[in-house]
Amino acid sequence: MTALLEVEDLRVAYGKIEAVKGISFTVDAGEVVTLIGTNGAGKTTTLRTLSGLLKPVGGQIRFRGKSLKKTPAHQIVSLGLAHSPEGRHIFPRMTIEDNLRLGAFLRSDRPGIEKDIQRAYDLFPILGERRKQAAGTLSGGEQQMLAMGRALMSQPKLLMLDEPSMGLSPIMMQKIMATIAELKSQGTTILLVEQNAQAALSLADQGHVMETGNIVLSGSGQTLLHDESVRKAYLGED
Ligand SMILES: Nc1ncnc2c1ncn2[C@@H]1O[C@H](COP(=O)(O)OP(=O)(O)OP(=O)(O)O)[C@@H](O)[C@H]1O
Ligand SMILES: [Mg+2]
Repeated sequence: MTALLEVEDLRVAYGKIEAVKGISFTVDAGEVVTLIGTNGAGKTTTLRTLSGLLKPVGGQIRFRGKSLKKTPAHQIVSLGLAHSPEGRHIFPRMTIEDNLRLGAFLRSDRPGIEKDIQRAYDLFPILGERRKQAAGTLSGGEQQMLAMGRALMSQPKLLMLDEPSMGLSPIMMQKIMATIAELKSQGTTILLVEQNAQAALSLADQGHVMETGNIVLSGSGQTLLHDESVRKAYLGED
């Protein structure tokens, strides 16, 4: 079986600075795969390249068997790859509901869209309660929920989440992680970038540790969670 996403020797540079130096990994349908690693390791750069916002200088990206090399960003979304970016990027003056509708801009199946808006409200009841409110009035954690809900509105085959727990309280963070687990159980395939290695590895099928543009260690979530070097470097143990 071919993987849903295949990344092979991917290289990405900002001018002369190579931020991603030839990484390879795959994501199979139904899996949660996580990229963890220190600040500046190249995680966000990788996700931005996969969604077509940055052009690689080398390597291959295949999604559902098709090369994405020449595919523009908006077509990548329509192929089923959605991105909930770092720092949320919701539209603060628009209502919560209109933010969600924006996530469905490539769809024309109105009943399906209404059903998925309801699904977002089922996942995150607070969004339903505030649906007519400007999104900028939501707390940081609630905006994170909205960003995830909006990404789901495109009915992605692969959902990419960049630091969904960033800046959240422990309770909010647990809630976001529980939601990711729920999405996985519903069959959504997820590529998760997280600073919180413990939480990410606990729910991931596969994990990759990135350091300065390279993948330095790969394994199942459980293997990495119990790996001594990972525990020392990322889980704060000595
Ligand atoms: N627009 C840019 N121009 C130049 N360099 C950049 C740009 N964006 C990122 N970089 C550099 O590329 C490297 C990788 O950055 P990236 O944002 O991918 O890291 P990250 O793993 O997501 O880190 P963090 O955990 O802090 O979010 C860093 O050295 C960063 O300074
Ligand atoms: Mg980042």
